[in-house]
Amino acid sequence: MKYKSPPELNRGRRFSDNMVCGHELLLKAKLGIRGNTKGVGYAVPAFNVTTFQGINAAFEAFETLGSSGYLAFSNSALKHFGRGDAISGLELASSYIERLAKVSTVKIATHLDHGDYTSDGGRKVVQASIEMLTSVMADNSTNKKLGIPSSLEDNIGFTREVVNMAHPVGVSVEGELGVLAGEEDEDTKSEVSTYTNPEELEEFLKCTGVLMLAPTIGTKHGPNKGKPGEKVKLNIPLAHELLKTANEVNDEIVFVAHGASTLYPNVVKFAIDQLKSLSDNSETIENWRNFVGTDWEQIQGLIGAGFCKINTDTENRQTFLAALIGAINKNASKVDIRYYDNLTTAALRNSYIQKLIMAGNYGIWHEPKIDIKSFNFKLD
Ligand code: 13P
Repeated sequence: MKYKSPPELNRGRRFSDNMVCGHELLLKAKLGIRGNTKGVGYAVPAFNVTTFQGINAAFEAFETLGSSGYLAFSNSALKHFGRGDAISGLELASSYIERLAKVSTVKIATHLDHGDYTSDGGRKVVQASIEMLTSVMADNSTNKKLGIPSSLEDNIGFTREVVNMAHPVGVSVEGELGVLAGEEDEDTKSEVSTYTNPEELEEFLKCTGVLMLAPTIGTKHGPNKGKPGEKVKLNIPLAHELLKTANEVNDEIVFVAHGASTLYPNVVKFAIDQLKSLSDNSETIENWRNFVGTDWEQIQGLIGAGFCKINTDTENRQTFLAALIGAINKNASKVDIRYYDNLTTAALRNSYIQKLIMAGNYGIWHEPKIDIKSFNFKLD
C-alpha cells in the first residue's frame, strides 16, 4: 500500500444528548443488537429528509417503534432548509434535530448524503458537515467537477482526505465504489451504472479506512427503477463476493444500499384513484403507472449480504404526494395549513414505520408502542 494507514474512527467522541456516530447504529444492526440482547441482524433505513415536517414525522416513527434513527441530507436538501444556502441549512436542520434528540427515547445519527469532495462548493459542505453531523458520505466515484467517473486513484485520494478529517472527530465516512444510475434530484443524476469491480475493493477499503461502503450492484435512484411489469434484478451474488472481501479487511465494515425504495403499490393505487376523479390527469396518471421500485425480496437479499443501511427517499416523497392529492380531493376548501400538514405528516410517519418494520428495525432502544403484527400501512 503506497499510502500511510488511514486514521481509525475515534469511538470515544461524545455527541450531544442521544446523538450518536452513524457507524455505531449500523454496527449494532450488523451484530443484531437490540437492548441488551444479541440476535438476528437487521437494517437501518436512512431516510432522506428535505423539510422540517419530514424530520418531525421520522421522530414520531422512531419513537413509536424504539428504532435507531438515521436521517440524511443531500446538498440540495440542505439548500432547501437554508433557503438557498446549504451551510445555513446544515446549521438549522442539525440544531433542530439535536433539540428533538435531547428529549427523545431513541438514538439518532445525522448524515450528509452524496457529499462531493471533487468540487470547491461540495468540499465546503463536506467540511461543515463533519462539524455538524455524525456521519458523511464521500461520494467521489464520479468527479462532479468534470462530470466523469473518477479513476480508482482519485476516488481513493478524495475519500482519504475526508476520512483524515472525519475519523479523528468520531464522524463515520461512507465511500462509494462503482457508479449508480438514476435520478433522485440534481445531486444524483447519472444515466450510466457500473457494478463495483471486486478487484478494486480490497485496495479501496485498506487505503481509505472507510467503515461504510456503498457498492453498486444494480440499484437505482428515483421513481423509475425499471420497466412497469418487470422486476428489478440486483446482483446479489456480487454483493456476497464483496462482503467476503470486506469482512477479511475488517469485519466492522458495513455496506449501504442506495436507491432502496420499494415504492408501496397501495400508495400508487391510492394516488391513481384520487387523480382519476380530478379533471384531465391522463399524463400524471401515466407517470404514476410508470413508477417502479425495487422489490423488497431483492433488498432483503442485500440485507443478507451485509447491507445494513438502506437509503430511502423516493417512496416517502410519493407517500407525501399521494396523501396531499387525497386531502385536496377530499376537502379543498379547508383554509388551514395545519389540516394538510397533519394529514401529510401522519402519512409520512406511517410510511417510515412501515419501512422500519420491514427492515426489522424496532425494539432497539425500547419496546415498540404499537402492535407490530397488526400495523397496516394505508392511506385513506
Ligand atoms: P431512492 O430513490 O430509492 O429512495 O434512494 C434514495 C437514496 O439512495 C439516497 O441516497
